[in-house]
Amino acid sequence: MTNFVATCISGVESLVRGELERQDIQITYGQDKMAAFEWDMMTLTRANIWSRVANRIYIEVEKVDVTSLEMLFAVVESIDWSQWIPLGTPIIVSATTSRSVVTHTPSMQSLGKKAIIRSLMKGDDFWKENEHSHPIEVFLLLVNDELHVLINTSGDALHKRGYRTEAGEAPLKESLAAALVLFSGWKFRTPLYDPMCGSGTILIEAAMIARNIAPGLQREFDYLYFPWYDLPYHEKAIKEAREKIFAKSYQIFGSDRDEYMVDIACKNASRAGVLDTIQFREGDMGSVSFIPDSHIITNPPYGKRLWDENLEELYETLEQQILSNNLSGWVITSVEYFPKNQKNWTKKNLMNGAEKCQFWRKGI
Ligand SMILES: C[S@@+](CC[C@H](N)C(=O)[O-])C[C@H]1O[C@@H](n2cnc3c(N)ncnc32)[C@H](O)[C@@H]1O
Repeated sequence: MTNFVATCISGVESLVRGELERQDIQITYGQDKMAAFEWDMMTLTRANIWSRVANRIYIEVEKVDVTSLEMLFAVVESIDWSQWIPLGTPIIVSATTSRSVVTHTPSMQSLGKKAIIRSLMKGDDFWKENEHSHPIEVFLLLVNDELHVLINTSGDALHKRGYRTEAGEAPLKESLAAALVLFSGWKFRTPLYDPMCGSGTILIEAAMIARNIAPGLQREFDYLYFPWYDLPYHEKAIKEAREKIFAKSYQIFGSDRDEYMVDIACKNASRAGVLDTIQFREGDMGSVSFIPDSHIITNPPYGKRLWDENLEELYETLEQQILSNNLSGWVITSVEYFPKNQKNWTKKNLMNGAEKCQFWRKGI
């Protein structure tokens, strides 16, 4: 049976499963960094348009144990690629491997591509890719000696919603920002504040979640180029998504001490269609007067990518603000000196790009 596979960073699998299940999509299996679900054209379309937290959605054309490059070649060659890839389509093969006998990804890529071409050519000896056609990406994912042969239906990673054309030095990926909002359990009635908002990603994602704005409304997907894909499915899903947007108002606030970042945040929010839902202003985190019971989600500088001379002091002020105002506080960081008083806090480990971070929580 053909499955779809949604990939994600480690630690957010439950959120990915939740967002698929909310669309009545049946999960077939789940494992580290992925969730698989049943195949049909509308599911493919909705999963891409609505996934806030997943990295990409793939078609899983094969899943089988493989312990050598020879086996990998034979498995890939045995697939009937003609049903997925028209002759002449440029093919990009990417690969990753973990906890497996086969460890050399460049060989997986080059042998994988040879095997696909051999299968498509059926004995002909001349292969030419039409450089004007949209390429198809095949992803060979090997985990614990299990090979998943996947076709990328999303194209660019799903965190690229299209609204963030400008950012500061260390922006969060939009998908991670959405995951933080969902993990934090923010209730839409509660005031939400990011006092170090940078380019506004956390608040923009929160506003999109609150207003039920699908994250994929403004971008394109690779499935639109598949010859077997029926465009009316996409048109129907986009129309459906537009009709589901709420026009309610919320108390969502953001500030940053850098005027330039506030300007960028406003522009990003405007492109995302939520500028009227968020109030941004310039200001130092230490002098913010928070509305009682506010829910804080913030991503301060870590000192590795953004240089800051008084970082330890900054974190002390942040902790003080959250504790003395009795706020619900959620802080993603990798610094070891936050929080000072750990007994008030619980944490969840998350990767922010290549960096191991903790998402600290202080409930009210
Ligand atoms: C890691 S960035 C936040 C990135 C943001 N999450 C995004 O996705 O764009 C940290 C931000 O904290 C701001 N900042 C640092 N110290 C601050 C302070 N004392 N008060 C307010 N903002 C501050 C910086 O200007 C920077 O924009």
